[in-house]
Amino acid sequence: MMTVATAAVMASGATTAFAACDEGEMVIKFSHVTNTDRHPKGIAASLLQERVNEEMNGTACMEVFPNSTLYNDDQVLEAMLQGDVQLAAPSLSKFEQFTKQFRIFDLPFMFKNIDAVDEFQNSETGQAMKESMTRRGLLGLAFWHNGMKQMSANKALNLPSDANGLKFRVQNSEVLKAQMAAMGASPQPMAFSEVYGALQTGVVDGQENTWSNIYGQKFFEVQDGTTETNHGIIDYLVVTSTEWFDSLDPAVRDQLSTIIAEVTATRNAESTNVNEAAKQAIIEAGGVVRQLDADQRQAWVETMKPVWDQFREDVGQENIDAAQAINE
Ligand code: LMR
Repeated sequence: MMTVATAAVMASGATTAFAACDEGEMVIKFSHVTNTDRHPKGIAASLLQERVNEEMNGTACMEVFPNSTLYNDDQVLEAMLQGDVQLAAPSLSKFEQFTKQFRIFDLPFMFKNIDAVDEFQNSETGQAMKESMTRRGLLGLAFWHNGMKQMSANKALNLPSDANGLKFRVQNSEVLKAQMAAMGASPQPMAFSEVYGALQTGVVDGQENTWSNIYGQKFFEVQDGTTETNHGIIDYLVVTSTEWFDSLDPAVRDQLSTIIAEVTATRNAESTNVNEAAKQAIIEAGGVVRQLDADQRQAWVETMKPVWDQFREDVGQENIDAAQAINE
């Protein structure tokens, strides 16, 4: 049950707020790395917490740890396999060590928008991907959307050649490293929590991310500007350990699964709006947003798309074809 003190903390909007658990309630820890407001994942995790704590009161209690306060994405899956955390929602790029199937989501210009990603994920192939890591002890429960990625740097980026020789932070993904190399840039894998400092001190020159992350982490404050490239996506897998999930009482497992499915449907429908609002907030705060004309955009496509050839075998031509058919 929620105590008065916890309710007050939650009402204040404090980012580390979580419901205090009563004795006898099963504790479900959910660790993630983003901020909680104006962010698709942050809002979805808070809604999940609220619903579990209301509807499963007396049985289960969820504590959400945002902003990398418990683990960063590089640590959380190990912690999950050790039983130290029960839920997380790392971006699909962070499963590199567990499956190569998710590489399709990192390939540049593979999906034209988040609706296309949604349709692919809801296909039989997409749904089967949630179970692609069960042999390694991880089970996907839902895909959560963030949005399309944009590119920023400490100089104006209009053509991909503007990135030549620059250092770009990337998530630790082979596809993303290859994508930056295709632009003549140097990829620097780094935890999300370290990116702001690295941009500010010049350890890296640029980065790619969604509007909600660029706004939430204030990257725009330490960059020359952000170019609306929409060249890729960031989406998440809500993931748990097979061992923990199998150990649940079937009725508890069903109730939790239903709540997760409902929260997923509600919040995924809003993710594009949340990113659009974050983009407007960047502009209102004085951040520079650059648009590409048709020729410039074509130059980005021609530079980045050849990266697909390096990963065709990993992701399967039939999956590429299915994704492309959805785009049409
Ligand atoms: C990143 O590392 O840039 C993102 O995956 C962070 C996130 O969870 O959106």
